[in-house]
Amino acid sequence: MCGSFLPAESDLSRTNGLIDNHRKFLEESHPMWGANQARSLARQRESGALVLRLWRGDQAGAHGLVWSQAASSIPKVHGVWMEPAGPQLLTELLDDLALDRGAPVGAITDVIPGLPEENEFFRSRGYWHRSKVLMRHPTGAVSAAGAYRSQIRPIAVDDLRTIVGVYVRAYSDRPGEFWTWAAADAFEMAEADVMGHIGPDGSWEPPFRPDASFVWVEAGAIFGAILVEERPQGTPYVEDLIVEPAHHRRGIGRALLERALTELTRDGPRPIELAAVQFGAPYRLYTRLGFVEVPHPEGLLDGHWIRGPSPF
Ligand SMILES: CC(C)(COP(=O)(O)OP(=O)(O)OC[C@H]1O[C@@H](n2cnc3c(N)ncnc32)[C@H](O)[C@@H]1OP(=O)(O)O)[C@@H](O)C(=O)NCCC(=O)NCCS
Repeated sequence: MCGSFLPAESDLSRTNGLIDNHRKFLEESHPMWGANQARSLARQRESGALVLRLWRGDQAGAHGLVWSQAASSIPKVHGVWMEPAGPQLLTELLDDLALDRGAPVGAITDVIPGLPEENEFFRSRGYWHRSKVLMRHPTGAVSAAGAYRSQIRPIAVDDLRTIVGVYVRAYSDRPGEFWTWAAADAFEMAEADVMGHIGPDGSWEPPFRPDASFVWVEAGAIFGAILVEERPQGTPYVEDLIVEPAHHRRGIGRALLERALTELTRDGPRPIELAAVQFGAPYRLYTRLGFVEVPHPEGLLDGHWIRGPSPF
């Protein structure tokens, strides 16, 4: 190992200066995603999901920051920043990280400074690119075949706790997932997301749309759910669609989505949005139902390089 890693707190003024430069870079290079990314790194560091470390490179004056997943056994990097930027320093930093953690970097977020040949850099090192994209259905119209299956009923506040479990199991089974859903705190993370739809008084919290959110119930158990909310500009947004892995490919996901779209277009056609990992199973389902990708840059929500062959 050439450089060394230190706790971010060991040199607060340098750490804060680097964080500031990184935030400015993110905001300038990608106004929507970059700003979100900077906020998300700060929030996740505060919650303990991410660990921030300061890197001192071998080269005089070389410094960097690495935000990595606290719970993952292989290094998964959510944010990286180097000064001076460039492929050589990034190579050193990644090598140092691999030596320090005893495993090659398994995943790294993109939008990296000083890397004009980003594709070439990562592909030649055996990584594939996982993009999360915004998709839009221009009218929300579906054939409605199967939309009124008897197993589907509107969501109830009491369903949320059960849905957290379905959520964790559904995502832990998903290929190419960036987050370590099998981690010990996966349940808490999912719980914060899902339970956030109800307020302190136990009633639904806007922008959640309980009128367009449904569960699939069979033999008294919830096997799937669709959660919908309203975007600030008034566009309905499918926040999540999840099905128990043991019941995949039975048409549950499709039927839940068709039911939500049918409800959302009761008063006429309207665009409906959601986010999906490009080319994955849900992406195929959405494409089949008429969702199309919103073009870049607006449509690129986030991107990561993942080590290994693409599962898609
Ligand atoms: C996405 C998900 C909800 C689909 O649920 P499902 O009940 O298995 O989906 P359906 O049986 O209705 O499948 C509908 C279509 O989706 C596509 N599809 C679903 N799973 C697929 C897979 N593993 N591989 C390829 N295509 C797939 C197919 O086009 C399928 O139609 P077909 O079976 O006629 O070929 C489920 O895979 C899931 O919970 N995944 C994890 C959570 C997730 O990623 N949610 C989406 C967030 S954007």
